Amino acid sequence: MSAHPSSNTVSVILLAGGQGLRMGAATPKQFLVLEGKPMARFSFDIFHSMPEVDEVVVVCSPDYRQLFEGYSWPKPVKFALPGARRQDSVFSGMQEVSPSCGLVCIHDGARPFIDTSLVERVLQAARQYGAAAAGMPVKFTVKECCSQGFVRSTPDRSGIWEVQTPQAVRLDWLVEGFRHSHGQGITVTDDVSLVELLGKEVRMVEGAHHNIKVTVPIDLTIAQNILATIKQSQGNAS
Ligand code: C5P
Repeated sequence: MSAHPSSNTVSVILLAGGQGLRMGAATPKQFLVLEGKPMARFSFDIFHSMPEVDEVVVVCSPDYRQLFEGYSWPKPVKFALPGARRQDSVFSGMQEVSPSCGLVCIHDGARPFIDTSLVERVLQAARQYGAAAAGMPVKFTVKECCSQGFVRSTPDRSGIWEVQTPQAVRLDWLVEGFRHSHGQGITVTDDVSLVELLGKEVRMVEGAHHNIKVTVPIDLTIAQNILATIKQSQGNAS
């Protein structure tokens, strides 16, 4: 089985089109400011620093485009309009991706703490297997419950992972996955699920506990602490 993409080029879709209702803030969570920088710009800057990345497509409301415009970025920046669901925003971003790209790397703008090493490992696994996602083995016990809130099962947690982004998928598999999900009317909450629907294998890559998705108000305090810790460790290393 050849799972290798047809080309080595990588397009990033940076998702910044959500409204962040669970955060309860006037500004969507991915644009809340951490130490003077809008959150989505943290990962945007990482992707721009990577020679493996050929272009970045930002999915966001036109109101926020100026956060990414007016700078001389080392690679092309494109924009796409958000859709109603996360997967609709990915689909919208995919329309702007260069048709010759081999891999599409999708990332949540609300996850500011990725580094180049994690992105490289996800891209490398996707080059080898066709689809890969960052994640962590869960550190807690998971219960499957019915809609009334009663426990129905306790899955063995040894094989359970919490899924993060970045996730990277061959462009042709992503296109096929969307065709399938649209045909069947299926909603997915992450990107490699589209590949799973096709019956193809997805490789998990160990991410980091600090690769959090800022979602609810307490996450902002946690994010500030993570950033301070990262800066401190960088200061100690230099
Ligand atoms: O809502 P959720 O936390 O899953 O969002 C994850 C990421 O996807 C966020 O960066 C958010 O801005 C983005 N998103 C999007 N379009 C949507 C919903 C979410 O770009 N319709």
